Amino acid sequence: MTQASPQQYHLFINGEEVAPQSEQTFESINPATGEVIAHVAHGNEQDVDRAVKAARNAHESGVWSKMPTAQRSIILNRMADLMQENLPSLAALETQDNGKPINESSFIDLPMSIDAFRYYASAARMIGGQAVPVPGALTYTLKEPIGVCGQIIPWNFPIMMATWKLAPALAAGNSVVLKPAEQTPLTALRLAELFKQAGVPDGVVNVVTGDGRTGEALVKHPGVDKIAFTGSTEVGRQVMINAAGTLKRVSLELGGKSPNVVFADANLDQAVNGALFAIYFNQGQICTAGSRLFVQDAIYDAFVEKLVGKLAQLRVGDPTLNTTQIGSLVSAEQFDKVNSYIQIGQEEGATLAFGGKHLRDELKGYFVQPTIFSDVKNSMRIAQEEIFGPVLSVIRFKDDAEAARLVNEIPYGLVSAVWTENVRRAHNFASMIQAGYVWINTYNILPVEAPFGGYKQSGFGRELGMGALDMYTETKNVYVELNEASPITGWYGV
Ligand code: NAI
Ligand code: MG
Repeated sequence: MTQASPQQYHLFINGEEVAPQSEQTFESINPATGEVIAHVAHGNEQDVDRAVKAARNAHESGVWSKMPTAQRSIILNRMADLMQENLPSLAALETQDNGKPINESSFIDLPMSIDAFRYYASAARMIGGQAVPVPGALTYTLKEPIGVCGQIIPWNFPIMMATWKLAPALAAGNSVVLKPAEQTPLTALRLAELFKQAGVPDGVVNVVTGDGRTGEALVKHPGVDKIAFTGSTEVGRQVMINAAGTLKRVSLELGGKSPNVVFADANLDQAVNGALFAIYFNQGQICTAGSRLFVQDAIYDAFVEKLVGKLAQLRVGDPTLNTTQIGSLVSAEQFDKVNSYIQIGQEEGATLAFGGKHLRDELKGYFVQPTIFSDVKNSMRIAQEEIFGPVLSVIRFKDDAEAARLVNEIPYGLVSAVWTENVRRAHNFASMIQAGYVWINTYNILPVEAPFGGYKQSGFGRELGMGALDMYTETKNVYVELNEASPITGWYGV
């Protein structure tokens, strides 16, 4: 089989492709085959500076920030149309760069991303302040764009993460410098071209590729007003420290170790499928992964047995095939991390109920069998640390109070789920969980209308919904004196 030679990708600054001043590149691979698919520009500090200046100039010119919102909305809708028209090629590129099943890129990632642009296209026209009742005065608030937003995203949902950040930022009139993950930079560069085609003025969206050093330069740059970051808790901490120098606004969407709680009175067939989707979707490489499965005593053994039975049927392999359900992990690094946790789980004394092997010899890429550990204690590392792979820890509990205690004994608090047919129990339990999201009898459904984000060390700020616009606007209060003379004008005597 002949392989196409890897393509060369530049940075996208001020509406055009530009070679990096660093003159350095890095490789992007197809993790399902190990093949190098692209050489990508590695942006350095000068490149970041150039992108920030382009964004600043665009912002101050008013070409986007002061564009009539009707027009801005049309352009964001046009972006959604262009993504829809290019859906097959975008989905294919996403799968090639990331290793995720084409079914997921095509039927989940892309449609949700397109929907986000449509939602924020409408939201752009609804951003407004309030009249504030103050006697003797007209007082009102204005919601203004913050300015230049630096957005740093991970590799697990490259298009969707870009969209969740770009759509609200642009709807609110900001300019953006986006730094995609070094493992999956290709679709962000493709989106940049589509933005131009949609009519977004030059300089409003800039994409600077590179690794953590490029991200760090963006976080430290004094010309950036706000940083939105999604990624590991460790780097999130670093981002906060580095943003402190210039007191940038920061929003963080970080790691998780999310609890999925199944009570004995649940619809068990649905709960089994829900538990599988919670952990194995996207090879478990998702911040919302339901990686801690709590199952009530009475049904524990039967539930694990059902899970294992289902798991044996999942199709792992070539992500470009429509029939594939579990694709490749994103990189050698992630592959090593997941395998090391499978080792740790065994050393900690958990029971390996299914999987545990990698498929590197049979399949060329970074494939790992979906894996289940049962008899897991909540204190074990496989129950406390984010593995970010297809590894499930199943923990036993007695009653509601014990489940709530175990669920909350963790530094994370991103999402959670409860499976029960008892409506009172469901709502009571929801109120006891320390997490930014609670699903009842489902998992991983994230409508763009509803706020998403974490408690505790899973971050702060809320993406999606109208609330995301608060992260991309400043509030200005305007006070108009309506009295003939203001009380302060005579303060020093007239
Ligand atoms: P990471 O947190 O290092 O990378 C995320 C993004 O931050 C990338 O674009 C990266 O280039 C950038 N970055 C790295 N260091 C930076 C710095 N000092 N300043 C600014 N930007 C920086 O995540 P990584 O190394 O890819 O994955 C490691 C682990 O992190 C995973 O195994 C997983 O546990 C977790 N993770 C969690 C994600 C989530 O959605 N919550 C997403 C990706 C990773
Ligand atoms: Mg890649």
